[in-house]
This record gives sequence, C-alpha cells and structure tokens, in this order.
Amino acid sequence: MAGIILTGDRPTGRLHVGHYVGSLRRRVELQNSGKYDEIYIMIADAQALTDNAKNPSKVRENILEVALDYLAVGLDPEKSTLFIQSQVPELTELSFYYMNLVTVPRLQRNPTVKAELAMRDFKSEGIPVGFFTYPISQAADITAFRATTVPVGEDQEPMLEQCREIVRSFNNTYGETLTEPDIMLPDNAACLRLPGIDGKAKMSKSLGNCIYLAEEPEEIRKKVMSMFTDPDHLRVEDPGKTEGNPVFIYLEAFSKPEYFAEFCPDYKDLSEMKAHYERGGLGDVKVKKFLNSCLQAELEPIRNRRKEFQKDIGYVYEVLRKGSEVAERKAAQTLADVKAAMKIDYFADSSFIEAQTEKYREGQQ
Ligand code: TRP
Repeated sequence: MAGIILTGDRPTGRLHVGHYVGSLRRRVELQNSGKYDEIYIMIADAQALTDNAKNPSKVRENILEVALDYLAVGLDPEKSTLFIQSQVPELTELSFYYMNLVTVPRLQRNPTVKAELAMRDFKSEGIPVGFFTYPISQAADITAFRATTVPVGEDQEPMLEQCREIVRSFNNTYGETLTEPDIMLPDNAACLRLPGIDGKAKMSKSLGNCIYLAEEPEEIRKKVMSMFTDPDHLRVEDPGKTEGNPVFIYLEAFSKPEYFAEFCPDYKDLSEMKAHYERGGLGDVKVKKFLNSCLQAELEPIRNRRKEFQKDIGYVYEVLRKGSEVAERKAAQTLADVKAAMKIDYFADSSFIEAQTEKYREGQQ
C-alpha cells in the first residue's frame, strides 16, 4: 500500500544516537525503499518555541544543526521534503480549528504533556497555553500532509492517539475529510528507548549522557569506555547480566553480524557474546571495545558527510526554503478541504452566494 510519511524533530540541540536508532535510520530506509508516495520531514521550530519562547536564538541556531544531521544520515532532498514548521502558516490555522474539538481535561490527561509538565518548572509562572496545546498543533502537522504513517519514538504514542481522536471527531462532525495516521515504532526494544551512557532511562541533552551523531572518534571512544555496565560484574570470571546493561542494549541497537566478523571474530553474533558474558569469563573492556568499533563504523560516514555539507551552508538553507514551499502547497490544499467541510469557504462557494441572492430576491417580492 502506498502512503505518505510525516515526522520531525524539535530543533533544541544536535541529534544523538538515540534519535538515530529510534527514528532517523528508519526514515532513511523508508525513503530509499521507494515505497512511499511522499515523505515530509519537519523541523518543528514552532513546537520548540512553546517552551523556549524566551530563547528564540537557541531554536534558530539549532534549525541548521538538525538540518545538517538530516542530510548527514542520508535524508535526500530529492526524495524527501525537508522543511521548517513555522514557514507553513497553514499549520497554525488548522490548529486553531482543531482546538474546538479538544477539551482541557483531555489535554491534561495526555501522558506526554503530564510527564513533560512534571519535568519542567512551570510552577511559578504557570503553563504557557501554547505548550499545553502542542498536541493539537502536532495533529495539524500530521493531518496537513494527509500522513498515513508517522515514524517516531515510543514517547510520541500519546500524541498520535490524540491526533487520531481529532481526526475522528473532525470527520464525524464535518464529514470525511482528514486521514487517520498510524504510528510506526522501531521494531527492536533497544531502539525504542536507548538509555543514556549513564544507564539513565533516556538519552537527553540536559542529563549530559548523549553520544551525538557528529561526535569526533576520540570523544565516542571515551564515552563508550566510561559507560555503565552490570555493577555486580566485578571480575572477568564473574557471571554478568546483559539484561538492562546499557552496553548490551547499545549492542542490540548497533551490532551486526558483519561487525562481529570484522571486529570480534571470537563470536558469530550477539547471542553468542551475551551467553559468554552471562556465563562469566568475558570482561567489560572487551565488550566496550567492540561496541566502540561498531559505533565508529556506523558514525564515520555520517560525520564525514556532515563535514561536506558544512562547507555549503547556503545550500542547506536553500533545501529548507524549497522544501518549505512544497510543504506549504500541500498544507494549503488540506486547509482548503477543511474550510470547505466546515463551511467557512465563503468566497469559494458560489452556490451559497447564489442561494443567498435568491433568498433576498424572493424577500423583496
Ligand atoms: N514532538 C516531536 C518531538 O518532540 C516533534 C514533532 C512535531 C513531530 N510535530 C510532529 C513528530 C509531527 C511527528 C509528527 O520530537
């Protein structure tokens, strides 16, 4: 079945390997599969501003960082439309109409909003309305492009559910107009939620536990060698735990049989390596060295491509400008359909004007 993909990221920092295994790698595969009719990749600056209103320069600078990361991983502007959210004003207009279909308690129940509210300190000033309603704006992002498929991380599940509800509510109220999207999650548990190098639940810039896509080789090595492992695995002979062990979770996400053949031929694949670690006799340093080799192999071409694109920043902005124009044309079509369904297309509906004319002509007689 053909379909349309839309996904995106907030430009609040460079992208890291958590983004890579959680979504970026998949996007490139989907793009290169040629199976989708249209692919839209959005830099969600308007959404980033919902909690960075006082810091627009951070958002502005990171638009370029994210765009460079996109191009570096292999998103190809010939095949995917890369664009900036704020440059498509139709998205804001759609959000405003969808707001009438969502209640305040429903937004308060959105688990992602709840979790983010708990993480941030809005207590003194209160929650910005824009932040509170960003799930609605996200539904506008998805539906504007008639997306059938939204490849994102697990944390975005509540956003997709909220979007589907808005679509159903809109279609019930105004007639079949919008497309209900499906979420596409990573199929491997390690990719679903890659922990930070400190073993904390999530890789995040504020926790300082990330490996960035653009990281230099020596930095990658240092970070890998400092990673948390099984704290009870004190001597090489001790049996070790692989479950919940960050180094093995990373290997689930990054190792391939080819990498075993090339860098660690003692084992055929990850299950053999794990079995040895669990039995005892396999030291953390050896496992970390192997992980380092896998990461270096995976990240080197990405870093090199990024350096090439860094030489021509004008080109990168041109890609975003052209992509934003294409995206706007698509969103404008959907907005026109939405306005027609809501009967607020006053000037486009000549039959309505004629009927009104008729009504008053009769009235005069
Ligand atoms: N919320 C996403 C993030 O934090 C970014 C985003 C905005 C998005 N709109 C979207 C993702 C629409 C998928 C679809 O990274």
